Order: sequence, then structure tokens, then C-alpha cells
Amino acid sequence: MGDEVFVRGIVEFSNVCANDCFYCGIRRSNRKVKRYVISPDEVMSVARNMAGCSQTTIVLQSGEMPTPRADADLGNLIRRIKRETSLAVTVSVGNRPRDVYAYWQACGMDRYLLRFEASDPELFARLRADCTLEQRLQCLRDLKALGVQTGSGFMIGLPGETLEVLADNILLCRLLDLDMIGIGPFIPHPDTPLGTSQNAYVRDSEMFFTALAVLRLVNPDAHIPATTAFDAVFPKRGRELALQRGANIFMPNATPAAYRKEYLLYPNKPCIDEGSDQCSHCVVLQVRSIGRTIGRGPGDSIKKQSAML
Ligand code: 5AD
Ligand code: FES
Repeated sequence: MGDEVFVRGIVEFSNVCANDCFYCGIRRSNRKVKRYVISPDEVMSVARNMAGCSQTTIVLQSGEMPTPRADADLGNLIRRIKRETSLAVTVSVGNRPRDVYAYWQACGMDRYLLRFEASDPELFARLRADCTLEQRLQCLRDLKALGVQTGSGFMIGLPGETLEVLADNILLCRLLDLDMIGIGPFIPHPDTPLGTSQNAYVRDSEMFFTALAVLRLVNPDAHIPATTAFDAVFPKRGRELALQRGANIFMPNATPAAYRKEYLLYPNKPCIDEGSDQCSHCVVLQVRSIGRTIGRGPGDSIKKQSAML
């Protein structure tokens, strides 16, 4: 994928979630979380800012809100971003029916992120009760069939994850022929049912990077982000190491600072302090400091570009 690193700010626009995933800090049952929804105007001011900081894509992520109202609100927000900026729009809001994905695509959605989390159906069933692995994979097939650039991925080191499952996770990414692949270490969150379990590689954390490097070799033309969970395991340098070991995308936190501490999917997430709104600037410096350049242009999937030729 060359030396370019694409910078894509992520806005965690709501932490309201209907689901109760056993690993996730913003699960419905976690009463300690103060729930928020960021207004469209506030998201728009973040979006306008991004264009001025070498960013060509906005990533909109939230908990799952499976209601027609939430679907329409997001559709309107996507339309507004496309009308008022030149940003590509990536959405990451969970399982929805195919016609909802098609509606968002008609509103201008370019890409979608939906991790399958674990390729083993039994392990998956120990992670969440709202859906099966097969349903999750069907969402990915729907997105691909619509022609939305599709990203997926998994957590590394879930309790019960064997080396075979990890290898199968990587192979499933290949099989799905993904445009984007996000992976990162599983980090137990104390206020979740998996909070007392340990990462399978707690004593061998180089495995996180080994997995990433193998993922890159097996998926040479996919966009692979250096995810924040690497920084949670290797403070201040995990994402940088990830960029040097296979990743080519950096996703700075673009959520307005006041909300960040309420979007803790896992503990030790970087950049959650008040006043860390400047993330996109420090990212550009960090990327250059390791001899890489900032990606220009929309950074569409190479696969999509060749398919259009
Ligand atoms: N540790 C690591 N990653 C997590 N995610 C959610 N909870 C955790 C956790 N405890 C990841 C999931 C999800 C993505 C948005 O964040 O893979 O798909
Ligand atoms: Fe919200 Fe998993 S807890 S989707």
C-alpha cells in the first residue's frame, strides 16, 4: 500500500446502545455510562474542521440504535455532510437490514465498518446474544452486494480464542475480500461480564503485532488501520508500531472532547482527556516522524478503483 498513511477522524456521535455485548463498556446494562447523542450541528462543525486538517474521510460511529427514527436521523446527517463538505463518509453503527444500508448509500454513504469479532460461531455466541455470527456475516454480504466499500475485522486474544481461531479470523478476512480490515487486542472492561477474564496473549503481547503483520501479508491490498486498542496495550506507541508492522490508516479521535470519556469500549483508551481536541495535528507530526507521508485524495479502496476501470 506504499508509504502513505490516510488520516480519518472518527466521531463517536452517540453512546446509546440497544445491545449488551459481553465485552463492550457501553453495553446497555452498564449504568455507569452517561448516555449522549451529539447534535447534527455539532457533528457538522467537526466535519468542516476535518477538511482543513488533511482529512478526506469522516467516520461516524455509535452504539446500535435499531429504530426507524435513528435510521432517518443518520440518513439526514450523511446527506448534510455530503452536501456541505467534500468528505467521504464511513458509517459504523452495527447490524441493520439491507434496505437501511441501501437508504444510507442513497444518502451518500461511501463505506461501512462492521467487525465480525470472532470467526468461530461458538466463541461469537459467548460475546453477544443479540445476533449470530451468520447474521453478522449476512450484513457484510448485503453491504458488499450493494457496492458499499466494506470493512470488518476482529478482536485479538478473546478468552477461549485458540491459535486456530486467530488463523481462521485472518483467513475469513481474506475470504470476505474486504476493502478495510480493523483488528485490535481485546481489553477486558471491568464493568462487563468479560471484565475479569484475561487476554489470551497477556504474556505474549507481540502476538498482537504478529497477527497484524500476517493479516497484511494475507490481505496486501486492504486498508488496515492502526487501531486505538494497540495504544491501550502499548501506551503512546502502539498505533505507531502498528503502522510499522502492516497498518496504513490512522483514525484520530474526532469526538468533541467533552463526550470522549463516555465512549470507553475498553479501559486505557488514548486521547480522552479534556483539551485533546488537537489529535489530528499530533497525528500528522507522528506519521511524518516515522518517515511516512500523509495520504492525499479520498483514499478509496484500491479494489473499488480497479473495479471501476
Ligand atoms: N476490547 C477491545 N476491543 C473492543 N471493542 C469493543 N469492546 C472492546 C474491548 N473490550 C471493539 C469491537 C467493536 C469495535 C467498535 O470496538 O471489536 O467492533
Ligand atoms: Fe453496543 Fe455491542 S454493546 S453493539
